[in-house]
Amino acid sequence: MLAKLKTLTLVGLEGEVVEIEVDLHRGLPTFSIVGLADTAVQEAKERVRSAIKNSGFQFPRGKISVNLAPADLKKQGSRFDLPIALGILHATGQITPPVDWEKDIYLGELSFKGDLRGISGILPSVTTAREKGFRGVYLPLSNIDEASLIPDIDIFAVESLRQICDHFSQIKTLEPHVAGEFNDLEQTEEGTFDMQHIRGQEHAKRALEIAAAGGHNMLMVGPPGSGKTMLAQSFATILPKITLEEALEITKIHSIAGLTNTDSPIINTRPFRSVHHTASGVAIVGGGNPPKPGEISLAHRGVLFLDEFAEFPQKTLEVLRQPIEDGVITISRASGSCTFPAQIMLVAAMNPTPDGYFPNDERSTSTPQQIQRYRSKISGPILDWIDLHVEVPQIPFEKLSEIKPGESSAVIRDRVHKARDFQRKRFTGQKIHSNAEMNTPLVKQFCKVDEEGQKLLRSAVEQMDLSGRAFYRILKLARTIADLAESESIEVPHLAEAIGYREKRDW
Ligand SMILES: Nc1ncnc2c1ncn2[C@@H]1O[C@H](COP(=O)(O)OP(=O)(O)O)[C@@H](O)[C@H]1O
Ligand SMILES: [Mg+2]
Repeated sequence: MLAKLKTLTLVGLEGEVVEIEVDLHRGLPTFSIVGLADTAVQEAKERVRSAIKNSGFQFPRGKISVNLAPADLKKQGSRFDLPIALGILHATGQITPPVDWEKDIYLGELSFKGDLRGISGILPSVTTAREKGFRGVYLPLSNIDEASLIPDIDIFAVESLRQICDHFSQIKTLEPHVAGEFNDLEQTEEGTFDMQHIRGQEHAKRALEIAAAGGHNMLMVGPPGSGKTMLAQSFATILPKITLEEALEITKIHSIAGLTNTDSPIINTRPFRSVHHTASGVAIVGGGNPPKPGEISLAHRGVLFLDEFAEFPQKTLEVLRQPIEDGVITISRASGSCTFPAQIMLVAAMNPTPDGYFPNDERSTSTPQQIQRYRSKISGPILDWIDLHVEVPQIPFEKLSEIKPGESSAVIRDRVHKARDFQRKRFTGQKIHSNAEMNTPLVKQFCKVDEEGQKLLRSAVEQMDLSGRAFYRILKLARTIADLAESESIEVPHLAEAIGYREKRDW
């Protein structure tokens, strides 16, 4: 008798449905698995054989053929043990699963004893099962925390092969798991950083608020010790809460990179990835075989922080350009290409000159040539994708203690949330979450400016010799500034502030 059931394999971040067919014939006892199965899948034979016997069933004596379809899709890992065992038991008539069992997905590794062991990549598997309209997923009990937050699909946590067979025969039925409540971790309560500890630097703080509100990129320029790193680290405390959908996206990526664990199966904070300038291209954009996401994807829906920006090799900055522009990174390999999401906020910090001081500071000893060479490392096209260029001046030590504490991160975060609410309403039905993600048609639709505003824009484009990209970026930034001001329309002051953050090269 032929048995058929469904499972999933992972290709990069996405799950692909795999149909398992088990066929039995008379003949010499053999057990073969076909369909581009790797060694871990081949080893399933030993585990399945023992698990079946040790669960009180008979292992068939004839010829067993297992086919994993589609045949051209590479199958990796030990996740196929459970469905293969169930297929064999059904083909031999030892169990009677429900007639519509192909509406569910079966996943899990078996021990020789017949217990189910946890597998990696549960989250992308369950989200795919949901997207493809499956009714439920049967998976190892130890993976339940990772799976349990995903709504709109029945999750069955299974301890052993015997237990799922008893469920089928209704000796003891399993109940689907009830999806848990999702809670975003309040970073402000957890972290040691808070905006209120930063004295002065109101200009930089305002820019960070705008960046957080609309998802824009920012560069801070200032002498050593002026507080750039501190500002960047405090940025994490004013980022908007993540939604469940975002948390799932982020966790999916971390799950592929092997960065989730059973203690914290769901990543419930916006990522903040700080990357050193000595990091390799692969570490930053991703790669390897099978392809693993790099820092830019691990920072998806969060922040990629590049401190000492001018120290990064030109080559590294060049590879960042495309993903920052597109919000995705494609890794090409001989075996095909693989795409990871990379919708990030870039925060960069650098000294204005090689000696650290602004050129107009009398302490600066850098020659114009040295300064020129230092700045030319960061090319025009790279500066083009930075919306907020901010100078961070040094505050004299004696002044630091005089300045009163500023607003707390919680207060700023509230305004960020309000601005994000506007954006959520604006982009209902669209696939994007923030102003920074608008493409040109959306900018044209949502960033209309009146005649006076047009005039201002025209003169800015002419005087600052702005590229088309910079023009659209200014409009998106102005939209965020208007959202923070709770204004339906983009007014001249919003545009003026947005233009003011464009690079002026007067430092
Ligand atoms: N505006 C400020 N308010 C409070 N502390 C500051 C400020 N600026 C600098 N500091 C102090 O100086 C230290 C060095 O700042 P840092 O962020 O490392 O500067 P940078 O990255 O610009 O070199 C900080 O850890 C902080 O203690
Ligand atoms: Mg620093």
